[in-house]
Amino acid sequence: MTKDKKSNLEKETPEEEVLFTSLRASAWPEFYGQKNVKQALNIAISAAKKRKEPIEHILLYGPPGLGKTTLSHLIAKEMNVNIRVTSGPAIERAGDLASILTNLEKGDILFIDEVHRLNKIVEETLYPAMEDYALDIIIGKGPSARTLRLDLPQFTIIGATTRIGLMSAPLRDRFGVIHRLAFYEPDELSEIIRKGAIKLKTKVDKDSIAEIATRARGTPRIALKLLKRVRDYAQVHGTGEIVKGLTDKALEMLNVDSVGLDNNDVRYLKSIIEKHGGGPVGVETIASTISEDIGTIEEVIEPYLLQVGFLKKTARGRTATLAAYKHLGIELPKGLKQGKLL
Ligand SMILES: Nc1ncnc2c1ncn2[C@@H]1O[C@H](COP(=O)(O)OP(=O)(O)O)[C@@H](O)[C@H]1O
Ligand SMILES: [Mg+2]
Repeated sequence: MTKDKKSNLEKETPEEEVLFTSLRASAWPEFYGQKNVKQALNIAISAAKKRKEPIEHILLYGPPGLGKTTLSHLIAKEMNVNIRVTSGPAIERAGDLASILTNLEKGDILFIDEVHRLNKIVEETLYPAMEDYALDIIIGKGPSARTLRLDLPQFTIIGATTRIGLMSAPLRDRFGVIHRLAFYEPDELSEIIRKGAIKLKTKVDKDSIAEIATRARGTPRIALKLLKRVRDYAQVHGTGEIVKGLTDKALEMLNVDSVGLDNNDVRYLKSIIEKHGGGPVGVETIASTISEDIGTIEEVIEPYLLQVGFLKKTARGRTATLAAYKHLGIELPKGLKQGKLL
């Protein structure tokens, strides 16, 4: 998915890219939460270091903003190796891949973001590279064509994807280590916000931290983005110090509701409830009702609504739950028994 398709809070402007680079967790202990993933990676890293071998290929997946890119950089740092960054759509031809791979040094990490978007030919070139550290290059054309096997240095691929379901099984299976990043708990987000505020040299009270944390959709990127917007608001309307009164007003202005739903989430739920009788309704239908891209819906909007229990996916389509009606303050339609709702 391209960045411009992301919902408001997911989108990164160039200014924010800089912000996130400066706020990016720069050491292992600064990466909060994801305890199990960290623990497993730690073991893999230590074992690889002991064996003096590159770490196995790693696949990280989960919704945007949960720390896949950050974690990849931290793994490189822990392993003390170079990391080279690219993305699925950026590698257009097998030749592009070949030139990246042949330039790696032993132990280097190649980070491939949006790895589900590699094209078929590139993907197939990648298989022997991942398995045997070899590239099969075809020289010549027609009957006289022959394959040349090129040895590669031992390296590690870290793939990141928001859509593991779109990856082919052969590619997925070539990653020895696969981890899903989960949404964060409010107290984990609080730590991230506290640390972010220190880096921004901004004072913030406890209540504001807690409020931002509960409204951040379980997502560090959103937590940091809200922190920054609230800081701006506090600078304009106060002394620059972030206090609860200002935080509440700023968050209201940003249209982030009490559990963190933004306009797009609400529009999505309302379309199911008001236009499609609460569901079940297919995702394609919802997409056309709210003129939103299916990828964005599946990747950004739905995971969090599922997580907070406002949405159920069934074989027949999406259904809004009773909790969603309650949260939006929408009365159940007459004749619809609560039992019908999940
Ligand atoms: N566990 C974490 N602890 C601290 N900061 C985090 C954590 N996860 C993500 N962040 C911060 O959130 C922002 C988005 O993370 P990023 O790695 O770009 O997410 P992804 O690649 O999954 O979309 C970055 O500024 C990053 O430093
Ligand atoms: Mg990323």
